[in-house]
Amino acid sequence: TRTIRLAVIGGDGIGPEVVAEALKVLRAAVGDEAAIETSEFALGAARYLATGDVLPDDELAAIAAHDAILLGAVGGTPGDPRLKDANIERGLLLKLRFSLDHYVNLRPTVLFPGVESPLKDPGAVDFVVVREGTEGPYVGNGGAIRVGTPAEVANEVSVNTAFGVERVVRYAFAKAAERRSRLTLVHKTNVLTFAGSLWKRTVDAVAAEFPGVAVDYLHVDAATIFLVTDPARFDVVVTDNLFGDILTDLAGAISGGIGLAASGNINPSGAFPSMFEPVHGSAPDIAGTGKADPTAAILSTALLLDHLGLPEAAGRITAAVTADLASRGAAARTTTEIGDAVRAALPALEPR
Ligand code: NAD
Ligand code: IPM
Ligand code: MN
Repeated sequence: TRTIRLAVIGGDGIGPEVVAEALKVLRAAVGDEAAIETSEFALGAARYLATGDVLPDDELAAIAAHDAILLGAVGGTPGDPRLKDANIERGLLLKLRFSLDHYVNLRPTVLFPGVESPLKDPGAVDFVVVREGTEGPYVGNGGAIRVGTPAEVANEVSVNTAFGVERVVRYAFAKAAERRSRLTLVHKTNVLTFAGSLWKRTVDAVAAEFPGVAVDYLHVDAATIFLVTDPARFDVVVTDNLFGDILTDLAGAISGGIGLAASGNINPSGAFPSMFEPVHGSAPDIAGTGKADPTAAILSTALLLDHLGLPEAAGRITAAVTADLASRGAAARTTTEIGDAVRAALPALEPR
């Protein structure tokens, strides 16, 4: 049998809680199709507070030697002064995404049957945001002078390269061609004219290679309107790192909550391992209470299996989650109860 070497970063807060359930479901779904070997990496705010480490180079190298990464969530309570200098988000999460060249941040949004949306009439919501993952304002290209004085100037530069934009746009077109063949570029070309022009010209150029894909464009502010008034219009949305971050929390909210939103940080070339994680964070407000919904982490393992070429096992997980969501009553269940229910709902493995 094939062996899948999985680096596991539970992280902070509810991260380890949801990852435990995700691993449980993942192992059961894979059965004997593959052997799953996990190595745990204790990284995050807790590790930093204990040792001062954020992501040492040798641990990054060790993580990079795996087939894939499963991450819960990292980060402490926003505003905790003890974490001010650590910058876990940049030093750990973004360092992983950048070092492992996760240029596709894939964030599907599905309103599953039986799941309540805060929208009155959401329609059939099933779209995927292809968020650029290695550029934009996230690169840390900026600086500040005269900090703390009334004359402070703080710059945060959005970096967009022809190479970086083209590769993610190409991925988004290919994804659209496999789906309902609609692609929406979201940007702010009316104000961010330099980057906007590059994105627009790139989409127009790549569109010529995908004549079957219908392309449209929305300014990001208008896109937030349509995500609320007509989310069913979207199939594939391609956008930059920051717009994609914001749109996908909104996408989570309209499709039953952030506890259901899965994501993959993907290096399509396979040169580096891809990383799968829920869209949500460490939720310090509910950590340790058993209230965290592990569904987003569980669905992230389906993306992981798809990426590793195990679509049947991925499909079993999606089917089990779909069944679990359809039969959820009003009674609140704990993190573990949801994980157990999803595992129990997995379709039987085909005899081999
Ligand atoms: P958050 O996503 O952790 O929490 C926002 C709200 O959603 C909270 O009320 C929380 O209780 C709720 N929530 C989140 N996940 C849930 C789940 N699975 N089930 C039920 N409810 C859930 O966002 P935040 O409070 O802005 O951030 C907390 C920390 O997490 C910060 O340090 C932030 O930087 C970090 N963060 C990390 C990641 C990551 O590791 N990928 C992502 C986002 C935020
Ligand atoms: C996410 C998170 C991260 C992001 C933060 C924690 C760096 O919000 O995964 O959506 O902005 O990408
Ligand atoms: Mn986010």
